[in-house]
Amino acid sequence: MFDGRPTCGTRRSTSHSPITGDGPTANCWRASTPTPRGGSSISVAAPGTLTVGLAARWPNALIEATDTSPEMVAAARDRGVDARLQDVRDWHPTPDTDVVISNATLQWVPEHRELLRRWVRELHPGAHLAFAVPGNFEFPSHRIIRSVAGSPRWRDMLSQIDFRGGDTVDDPTGYATLLADAGCAVDAWETTYIQRLTGDNPVLEWVTGTALTPVRSALVDDDWEAFRADLAPELSAAYPRRSDGTTFFPFRRIFVVARTGADAGEIRRP
Ligand SMILES: C[S@@+](CC[C@H](N)C(=O)[O-])C[C@H]1O[C@@H](n2cnc3c(N)ncnc32)[C@H](O)[C@@H]1O
Repeated sequence: MFDGRPTCGTRRSTSHSPITGDGPTANCWRASTPTPRGGSSISVAAPGTLTVGLAARWPNALIEATDTSPEMVAAARDRGVDARLQDVRDWHPTPDTDVVISNATLQWVPEHRELLRRWVRELHPGAHLAFAVPGNFEFPSHRIIRSVAGSPRWRDMLSQIDFRGGDTVDDPTGYATLLADAGCAVDAWETTYIQRLTGDNPVLEWVTGTALTPVRSALVDDDWEAFRADLAPELSAAYPRRSDGTTFFPFRRIFVVARTGADAGEIRRP
């Protein structure tokens, strides 16, 4: 069984939706990820502020991080993280890797299911693999983006972009099946957080930094602003501003913590 147990969110259900404070994902990880042995190494696929939190929680562990973004790697190094520019698909555990954590990255890797199987094969028995991916590819925000991008005005300009749908990631049962079949004990759950956003067009601003990054790269400045202008009213209609000026933005995340080398089929129930 795992050392820590998730204490926030609803497991395998979207029924509980807490109003968010700061960093719900990080809080969940702090609650659920296991403790590595002293002096062992943790590998974090893609650095961020979360990585710094891991170092604070596990001061005796060696922590390394990888990301394909030079900016992300530089930011992590500025925070004192041993970060390297590397595609997560090229990363391999070392014999002393105890914990692998990936936050909000594997959704960018179409072959991540095979990657997970490889990591399980390469990790020593008793190591932990923990990851979170967004699970909102069929939510209104993403449906609207796909709809606008596929409209006559934009479809030729954006034809090279793969606007991903619901099969981008699996649900908790899918990942539990994959990892249990690979011989792991698995703890998988999902939580829909109600992000409480402020400002004008807050959902547009949110997706600008996430789902729209390939669109930003594909369009010149004027087209980019025109695309955002087409999106804005549709997103505002789907996510109306409340009387207090804030906007609720449901965001589903899928969490998995797996331990290698366990008896297949040991899936913990809440
Ligand atoms: C939403 S951000 C998450 C960043 C960080 N993990 C965190 O929790 O703050 C997604 C990150 O995935 C990185 N990324 C995308 N594809 C990647 C790949 N194949 N290998 C490594 N990093 C990748 C991006 O550069 C980006 O920094």
